[in-house]
Amino acid sequence: MRSSRTSLGRRIAALCAGAVTVGALLTAGTTTAHAADTPLRDLAAAKGKVMGTAVTGSKLTGTYGDIAGREFNWLTPGNAMKWGSVEPTQGTFNWAEADQIVNFAEAHGQEVRGHTLVWHSQNPSWLTNGSWTPAQLTTLLQNHINTEVGRYKGRVAAWDVVNEPFNEDGTYRSTLWYNGLGADYIANALTWARAADPAAELYINDYNVEGVNAKSTALYNLVRSLKERGVPIDGVGLQAHLILGQVPSSFQQNIQRFADLGVDVAITELDIRMQLPSDTAKLTQQAADYKAVMNACLAVTRCTGVTVWGFTDSDSWIPSTFPGQGAATPYDENYAPKPAYHAIAASLGGTTTPPPTGACTAVYSVTSQWNTGFTGQVRIGCSGAALSSWRVSWSFGAGQQITQAWNANCTQSGAAVTCSNASYNGTVPDGGSVTFGFNGSWSGSNPVPVVTLG
Ligand code: G3I
Repeated sequence: MRSSRTSLGRRIAALCAGAVTVGALLTAGTTTAHAADTPLRDLAAAKGKVMGTAVTGSKLTGTYGDIAGREFNWLTPGNAMKWGSVEPTQGTFNWAEADQIVNFAEAHGQEVRGHTLVWHSQNPSWLTNGSWTPAQLTTLLQNHINTEVGRYKGRVAAWDVVNEPFNEDGTYRSTLWYNGLGADYIANALTWARAADPAAELYINDYNVEGVNAKSTALYNLVRSLKERGVPIDGVGLQAHLILGQVPSSFQQNIQRFADLGVDVAITELDIRMQLPSDTAKLTQQAADYKAVMNACLAVTRCTGVTVWGFTDSDSWIPSTFPGQGAATPYDENYAPKPAYHAIAASLGGTTTPPPTGACTAVYSVTSQWNTGFTGQVRIGCSGAALSSWRVSWSFGAGQQITQAWNANCTQSGAAVTCSNASYNGTVPDGGSVTFGFNGSWSGSNPVPVVTLG
């Protein structure tokens, strides 16, 4: 780690800052907490690691925002910092979502991983459709790096400077940058990024480089050669977009060989996809796979930690890119922690109270929130049990008031709310679920209450 620079100190300061706890996500049935007893970010910090997630700026309210702030100490903008997002028209910049995420991170004691400066994808069409001389391309790239890194100087702890430079066979990918500037676009980009923010940690990031293979060996050789040449490079990002049951057996060995070059290693985009629908066996395998990744990182001192590529199945790139696949993240689409979440917590030394087996549980979540109003939902799910009718109750902690409900009969008296099934949805079969929703008003804060299913 670059302990002589500010980055390590800054990282540890952020880790120790702790989460802003904005109400816990709890489930009920026997009012059992599904979340880890200690947030993942605190468990990771105790191990000297970071626990991050990719986020979408527009979603950072309600339950999504609560979980992002509570459980993670690093955030990566999933799309907001890509060239196509920040400069859709040449010379016209849109920093709104990137700024929003950086501000959120600072408000929650989190660090930001900037993603990404030089890539072949998600570039603006004016750039990809242009016809540029090498000199023009050089100027464009240098200006882009100066502008973006400079804007967030001191606020973005690490940058994925170069993203996905290699083909699967270890040759350089044919891109705007490689074709126009040759392989030295990588060294130049790193050098320009260092000049723009000397304290930021600089990474090269790629996928299918988790195990020892031709592609990861090409990355290894590149990093070795950059180090030998004195080019600024602080770390490698192993994305880890994995397939169920296919965590490479050489994962730890591969992390270690990069660490032995004198660079940090970060798991930057972890998700583990499966063929849908998910079932207990697949989710159990997925938990084991998440644990294997965590353990590989935990075993290597210079592995800085793990970032998941979206923490909820409702905010994952998988279903649209791999039709029929999904369920790749640690929380389901209703924000209920999955076995993978518990496996991450356990690998970090946490104790969690998993849902009882053979039970029905209720999960409350805020699905959207605006200045004075919000929409919430409760999902009642059964596994190894079933219901023929149900009643869910909770007590609002901050004066929230339900104004309208659907798919349930809800009454509120003071803070106390009771919702029972409608005539048509009292039955919840084993393996099934029912969801009801409501609108409400709030002011000041909107914490998630503990719900009881009875
Ligand atoms: O913003 C537009 C929206 O206006 C439009 O209505 C909608 C219709 O399709 O598209 C929206 O843009 C999408 C964008 O995500 C934001 O949601 C793009 O179509 C979609 O292609 C884009 O996908 C992103 C993908 O990179 C592009 O390659 C994913 O969200 C993002 O998670 C993914 O992330 C990459 C990492 O950057 C690098 N490693 C691989 C990883 C997964 O592909």
